[in-house]
Amino acid sequence: MRAAGFDFGTSNSAIGIVKGNGIILAPVENGAAMIPSAVFFDFADGDKPLYGRNAVDAYVNGNDGRLMRGLKTILSTSLIDERTALSKRSIKLTDVIAMFSRHLKAKAEEAAGGPLDAVVHGRPVRFVEGDDVADARAETRLAELARQAGYNEVSFVYEPVAAAAQYELTASREETILVADIGGGTSDFSIVRIGPDRRRSADRKSDILANTGVRVGGTDFDRNLSMQTVMPEIGLGTELIDKQLPMPRSIFADLAWWPTINLCYTPKIVREAQEVHRLAVEPQKTARLLTVLTKHLGHRIAFGVEQAKIDLTDGERTAIALAFVEAGLEAPATREKFDNAIAAELMRLRLAVWNCLALADLQTVDTVFMTGGSSLVPAVEAVLRDELPGAQIKRGDDFLSVALGLTLEAQARYG
Ligand SMILES: Nc1ncnc2c1ncn2[C@@H]1O[C@H](COP(=O)(O)OP(=O)(O)OP(=O)(O)O)[C@@H](O)[C@H]1O
Ligand SMILES: [Mg+2]
Repeated sequence: MRAAGFDFGTSNSAIGIVKGNGIILAPVENGAAMIPSAVFFDFADGDKPLYGRNAVDAYVNGNDGRLMRGLKTILSTSLIDERTALSKRSIKLTDVIAMFSRHLKAKAEEAAGGPLDAVVHGRPVRFVEGDDVADARAETRLAELARQAGYNEVSFVYEPVAAAAQYELTASREETILVADIGGGTSDFSIVRIGPDRRRSADRKSDILANTGVRVGGTDFDRNLSMQTVMPEIGLGTELIDKQLPMPRSIFADLAWWPTINLCYTPKIVREAQEVHRLAVEPQKTARLLTVLTKHLGHRIAFGVEQAKIDLTDGERTAIALAFVEAGLEAPATREKFDNAIAAELMRLRLAVWNCLALADLQTVDTVFMTGGSSLVPAVEAVLRDELPGAQIKRGDDFLSVALGLTLEAQARYG
C-alpha cells in the first residue's frame, strides 16, 4: 500500500511520499513543497476552482469569485455545516476541504508515479478545547473528508509529534524536547523523548510524555491586529447619532477573521451596514465599510494585515496600505501595539506550556523545538524562553517539519 503524509494547515499545506528508501515532499505548486491552503472559485469561468497561490492571485487581481482561506478552522466551529454562495449554486465548506485535499493527493500521486491509498494525516492536539465529544467529531469529519478525497485508509498523528520525528533525525544525542508548533489556527505542544537509538524502536508511545493544544494561531493574531488598526478606520468604535444604539461590533469581528470574512457579504449584513452608515456620526468611515462589503475587499484587508504582522517580526513599525478602499488611506501599526493586541493569546500559550510540563511531570526540558509560522513572532518566542529558561531553542524548517514528520510516520506504518 502506498501512503502519503499530509499536513493540512490552516494557512499552508504540504504532502509527502515515500520514494525508494527515503521520503520526499511532493512539488505542489510551481515546484514548491508548500501551498497556501486557499481555494478560489472563479465566477467568470463556471466556478472553476483554483488552488493555493493561483487562488490568492486571482482574488487579489480582482477576478470575480469567492476566495476561501482558513478552512481548517471550520472543523472546530459551528461553521462546519455552513455553505458558501458561488455564482449559481452554493457549496458546503467541508466539500471545499475535500476538493483541496484531492488536489494535493493528485500532486502527490504525480510525484509518486502511482496511486496513493493511505494517508497519515496531521491533526492539532485539540480541534475543540474542553469538549472531547466535539473534538472526536471533528477528527471523524476530517477522516471522512480524506476518504471523500480518495484515500481508503486514514490515520492521524498529532502535528507536534510529527514535528518531533523530523527533529529527531537531526539529533545526535538523547534528549527531552518540547515541540512548540505555533501555526495559523492552533498552537500545539508535545514533550517527547527523542534520540538516535530510540528512532528504531517500534512503539514510541512511552516516549510521548504529554500533549497540549490551544486554538490560538496566526489568524487570531491577524484578527486582533486588524481590530486595533484597520477596523477603526472603517467605523469600528465610532458613534451612532442615536446614542441608544451602539455601533455593532460583530460585523467588524467577522470581517477581521479569515474564516468568517465571506459571511459578511450577505444582503442582510450589507443592509445592516447601510443602516449603520445612515446613523453614523463619522459617515466617511462607515462609507469605507460599505465599499469593503460591496466590493468584497475583506480578504484584501486580511492579506494587508497579515503582511504587516510579518513585517513586525523584524521591524518595529509598518503601515497597512488601504488604497484599494480609499485613495491614500493607510493604517499605521507598531510592534508594541501588536504585542498588546495579542497579550491574551500569549497568556493562553503560556498556560498551554505550563500544562504540558505539568502533564509530563517535568520542570523543564533540554530543548525547545520551535516550528510553525507563528513561532517566528518575537513575543511568542519570548514566552517559551521565559517559561523554559534553561532549555536551548532550536528551529528546523518552520513550515515543513510537520509534513516531513507525517511522511516519516507513513514510511514507518506502510513501508
Ligand atoms: N515571519 C513571520 N512572522 C510572524 N508570523 C508569520 C511569519 N511567517 C508566517 N507567519 C504566520 O504563520 C502562520 C502560518 O504558519 P503555518 O504555515 O505553520 O500554519 P499552518 O500549519 O497552516 O496552521 P495550523 O498548523 O495551525 O493549522 C500564518 O498566520 C502566517 O501569517
Ligand atoms: Mg501547522
